[in-house]
Amino acid sequence: MKALVLAGGTGSRLRPFTHTGTKQLLPIANKPVLFYVLESLAAAGVREAGIVVGSYADDIRLAAGDGSAFGLDLTYIRQDSPLGLAHAVSVARGFLADDDFLLHLGDNYLDGGVTDFAARAAAEPAAARLLVTPVPDPSAFGVVEADPAGRVHRVEEKPDRPRSDLALIGVYAFGPVVHEAVAAIRPSARGELELTHAVQWLVDHGHDVRADVTTSVWRDTGSVDDMLEANRHVLDRLDGRLDGKIDPDSAVVGRVRLHEGAVVRGSRITGPVVIGPGTVISDAVIGPYTSIGANCRVHDSSIEGSVLLDGADVDRAGRIERSFIGRDAVVTVPRHPYAHRLVLGDHSKVHLHP
Ligand code: DAU
Repeated sequence: MKALVLAGGTGSRLRPFTHTGTKQLLPIANKPVLFYVLESLAAAGVREAGIVVGSYADDIRLAAGDGSAFGLDLTYIRQDSPLGLAHAVSVARGFLADDDFLLHLGDNYLDGGVTDFAARAAAEPAAARLLVTPVPDPSAFGVVEADPAGRVHRVEEKPDRPRSDLALIGVYAFGPVVHEAVAAIRPSARGELELTHAVQWLVDHGHDVRADVTTSVWRDTGSVDDMLEANRHVLDRLDGRLDGKIDPDSAVVGRVRLHEGAVVRGSRITGPVVIGPGTVISDAVIGPYTSIGANCRVHDSSIEGSVLLDGADVDRAGRIERSFIGRDAVVTVPRHPYAHRLVLGDHSKVHLHP
């Protein structure tokens, strides 16, 4: 079966990180979210996949290439503006032709991947098949009402008063009739062509629409807290391996993945932790549940439950927890602070203690 991955959009809830990069390339345990998606599609037997890309098309192309690293043949499809998930499907019409396809949002992480779902979709084709999971606050998602046999009778996008606790998790399987539905719907109040409206159109026109419930861990990595949660979850399954250098004054405890070219001096690292190549950790305490990218520097600081993107520099910063620190960001505390001096990008958030 073909697959379509949606990796356009603006990622406004992940500002400021999405001012300079796209959310699908933000890392979970030092690997872009998008790569988990591509790996899970390949594991499900997909060979041909399209990626819908927007303004960060070049970055995504540079990262994912022709797909051969994942065992996929990737086609890039340009969506000039983020006019909605159904609009993204419509720009991929040529690539999809009249084939059945899996649709995977490029910012969703699903533990265990989509192998079982793809197998069910191939064995029992439907006009639309939706992967759903029970959540405590469904109003942030597409919400599905289905009968006990999984036959869907209503789908609503982010309703104020959800009628069920089943959220759409960003993995769908469609037959070619979806293109008729996408062509028939009109933009929603927020100005987007909603995929949920296309699915509701299929229901209203008597097509077979099914919901498959999963209880696998799933994260829509749309916010910093979601990214930190996903990071925690993936690190829990991390295999430790120490390829970098550790001096005799350091202690490394638990599952730690220290990449080749990383250096640890006079520090204590408590896993699960991943540390990227070229990173130097000195006189520091790191972990657990921390991912530090490539070419970072952490000196005389303590970091726990956090993510540092490539090139971040943390020096004498005291104790840092549950933080997400961007590429080449600098965090330091002067020796005798009379006042905080801050150089912050638009939409930054800083939590200062007196
Ligand atoms: O995460 C699951 C939810 O994803 C579902 O429950 C909702 O029904 C569904 O509408 C969607 O909601 P979001 O508000 O989270 O969608 P978001 O705008 O974050 O876009 C999801 C992905 O699709 C993301 O990788 C960006 C991409 N995208 C988005 C738009 C609006 C596109 O490629 N093109 C677009 O026009």
